[in-house]
Amino acid sequence: MTDRYAVIGNPIAHSQSPLIHRAFAAQTAQDISYERILAPLDGFAEVAKSLVEQGYQGVNVTVPFKFDAFNFCDFKTPQAMQAGAVNTLKFTDHGVYGTNTDGDGLVRDILHNLGVSIQGKRILLLGAGGAAEGVLQPLLGQVPATLVVANRTLDKAKKMVNKSHAGEVQVAAHAYADLPEHYFDIVINATSTGLSETVLPIPDVYAEHSLAYDMMYGRDTLFMQHARAAGARVADGLGMLVEQAAEAFFYWRGVRPATQAVMDMLRAR
Ligand code: ATR
Repeated sequence: MTDRYAVIGNPIAHSQSPLIHRAFAAQTAQDISYERILAPLDGFAEVAKSLVEQGYQGVNVTVPFKFDAFNFCDFKTPQAMQAGAVNTLKFTDHGVYGTNTDGDGLVRDILHNLGVSIQGKRILLLGAGGAAEGVLQPLLGQVPATLVVANRTLDKAKKMVNKSHAGEVQVAAHAYADLPEHYFDIVINATSTGLSETVLPIPDVYAEHSLAYDMMYGRDTLFMQHARAAGARVADGLGMLVEQAAEAFFYWRGVRPATQAVMDMLRAR
């Protein structure tokens, strides 16, 4: 019997997840179906419960339901606990398990696809919303030298830094205007400004041979354009999208799909 999976969000029409997971399934000869499900803004739990009852095996969860998904779980992985949000649910006979694959997806894209190591580097994370929170701990897990969180609302950056488990990594919160120039090796845009094309009021923060990474995908954002003009190497979030999906697929199926061909397919579209 075909195992059923889905992605739940609102909006959901433009989600690439069905395409990605069907490609993974074909490649690994897994018999699964995967569809998009639109849930009402106040109706996540009801929709998820009905999928459990219908015998679905799991779902991916996207904006704005990652916190609802966190609350829906019976059991959560450390990744989910650290992010405070869940993007992948697995429905089992013992209950609902939840994890968050966003941070590992980002780290994998930077390390394996872009070939850039994070260890010992000076990292700047722009933003302190759900997207930033989801990737902070996995980035710290790579033991950079420094990690600065900068955000328009400085208080949110401070809160995020204060509750992180930094180990020996130097972590700090900064306002945009106070960022040092020509300092950072990896700059990650986790704000939602790419959607509105707002320019972040940051100085030229890029060190030599730095990487600028926008977690958005599908467009050349102003952040990316400015970083390129400042001499940085630039990447969008398409690799992270595919890698977080691969982590979810592995969490469900115990099989790790290859990602390069799927990234190429999405880029070609
Ligand atoms: P997400 O889940 O995408 O992270 P979010 O939790 O609403 O969404 O967070 C949005 C992030 O983008 C925040 O860091 C937000 O900054 P504030 O915390 O100061 O609101 C940032 N952001 C959104 N619009 C912005 C703008 N016009 N200028 C600067 N930062 C902005």
